[in-house]
Amino acid sequence: MIPRILEPESMEGPDEVAQYDAMDHRAVNDRFTADFLAAHGPCRGGEIVDVGTGTARIPIALALADPMARIVGVDLAPAMLERAARNVEEAGLADRIRFIPGDAKLPHSLGDARFEAVISNTIIHHIPDPAPALATMFEHLEPGGTLMIRDLARPDDEETLAALVEQYAAGESAEARELFRASLHAALTVEEAAMLAATVGLPAGCVSRTSDRHWTLLWKQPD
Ligand SMILES: C[S@@+](CC[C@H](N)C(=O)[O-])C[C@H]1O[C@@H](n2cnc3c(N)ncnc32)[C@H](O)[C@@H]1O
Repeated sequence: MIPRILEPESMEGPDEVAQYDAMDHRAVNDRFTADFLAAHGPCRGGEIVDVGTGTARIPIALALADPMARIVGVDLAPAMLERAARNVEEAGLADRIRFIPGDAKLPHSLGDARFEAVISNTIIHHIPDPAPALATMFEHLEPGGTLMIRDLARPDDEETLAALVEQYAAGESAEARELFRASLHAALTVEEAAMLAATVGLPAGCVSRTSDRHWTLLWKQPD
């Protein structure tokens, strides 16, 4: 088992933001959106919060896939939110996607609001102790709501990690390949993600491996 090696939590610098936004995540974003809608069903018109929204590629994909989707994106990094707002404007979706700056680790960072769904993609690996962030996501879920968190899964050994970088980032820049490699190193294993779920009382079965490089936590809050 390779150790977890952390990477910086917030993605702040303009270069880092531009580089992240230039990477082609369409396939994983579309899969995230399709899996979310399959689990949640059609959006009901309430707000959905995307925690660690980055440059808002998932909110945009979701709003395009479901005309009833309304999303609020939250992120720690102002530079990410600036680019996110520009992307949403360009997509013509500013009437259905809004943003608030916030730190998911802080309790009540979204005020008292409860959301139709709480979604989050590839932020857990940025957070040294992600338990408080999961607690925040959980506390903002309304009855009947869907919680879907997906992240990279740390491989068992360096050979598997190198093979994943080769398979999925071969066509990217050297910096982007390095970012992917560092993110795989910083990720939780599937077993660690199940232990994380237990910190808010969720059963281990709500976490599963959903690709050769991802785990997903999926939970429907009882009505
Ligand atoms: C790898 S990016 C993923 C962005 C987006 N979810 C996506 O799938 O494209 C991780 C994002 O999480 C944000 N982030 C990290 N820690 C956070 C925290 N504690 N609260 C809110 N956002 C956070 C970073 O600033 C960054 O924008």
